[in-house]
Amino acid sequence: MIINKNSPLPIYYQLESHIKGLIEQGALSPGDTIPSEREYAETYQISRMTVRQAINSLVNEGLLYRKKGSGTFVSERKIEQPLQGLTSFTEDMKKRGMSPSSSLLQFEVVPATSFIANQLGIRDGDSVYEIKRIRLADNVPMALETNYLSESLVKGLSEEIVQASIYSYIEENLGFQITRADQLIEATKASKEEAKLLQIPKDHPMLFIQRNTYLSDGTPLELVFSRYRGDRYKFFVEMER
Ligand code: GLP
Repeated sequence: MIINKNSPLPIYYQLESHIKGLIEQGALSPGDTIPSEREYAETYQISRMTVRQAINSLVNEGLLYRKKGSGTFVSERKIEQPLQGLTSFTEDMKKRGMSPSSSLLQFEVVPATSFIANQLGIRDGDSVYEIKRIRLADNVPMALETNYLSESLVKGLSEEIVQASIYSYIEENLGFQITRADQLIEATKASKEEAKLLQIPKDHPMLFIQRNTYLSDGTPLELVFSRYRGDRYKFFVEMER
C-alpha cells in the first residue's frame, strides 16, 4: 500500500515520496503528466489539500511543474554541475553528450566602470568587451551569461568566436593558461526580461553566479555574471574533513 494512514509519517510526505520514487525509477519520465489532485484524492482516499501539499513540495523542488490549464508535468532532470573543476559551458555540455550553443544578445566594447575595472585589475574607462549570451544545451536555454574581458588582454575576440567558446579561443588561439577562479553563488528569481529570454515563468528560481577567472600569472581574465535556471541545475561539491 502506498499510503499508510497509521504511519507516523505525514500523509503528504508519503505521497510525495511515492511520486519521487516513480520519477527516480523512470516510471514517470520528463514531460509526462501526473494524475490530477482529484484523482489522487479519490484513489488514496485522502484530502485534496494533502495532495496539493505533496505536489507543491515537488514543484518547489523542481521535480514537477504546473502548466496553467493543462496540468502538472514531470520536469527535465537537473544537470548536476561539479564545482571543483574550472570548466567552460561548452566543455560541460559536451561531456554530457549534449550539444552546446549560444544565442548572442550583445557584443560590444565599452569603457569599464570602476567596479569592473577593479575586478579586472585595469583602469577606470579602459576598454572591455561586454558579451551577453543565452547558453543553450540541445537548443534548450539553460543560462544567461554576461562576460567582461579586457580588450587589450584578450585581443581579437569576435562575434563568431563568442558564439562558440571563449575559453577555447583564449587557450588555443591566444595560448593563455586559464588557471583558477573564484565563484560566488546566490539564490535569485527571474526578472520579466530574463524569464522571456530563458522561456520560463517570471519569478522562477534561479542561481546567480559571479565568477572571477585568473591566468597562470595571476592576471584577472574575466568577470562573469551568470544566471542559471534553478529547475535545471544543481551544484555539487565534495568536502573533506
Ligand atoms: C561557463 C562559466 C563562465 C565562462 C564560460 C565560458 O559558463 N560560468 O564563467 O565564461 O563557461 O564558456 P565558453 O568557453 O563556452 O564560452
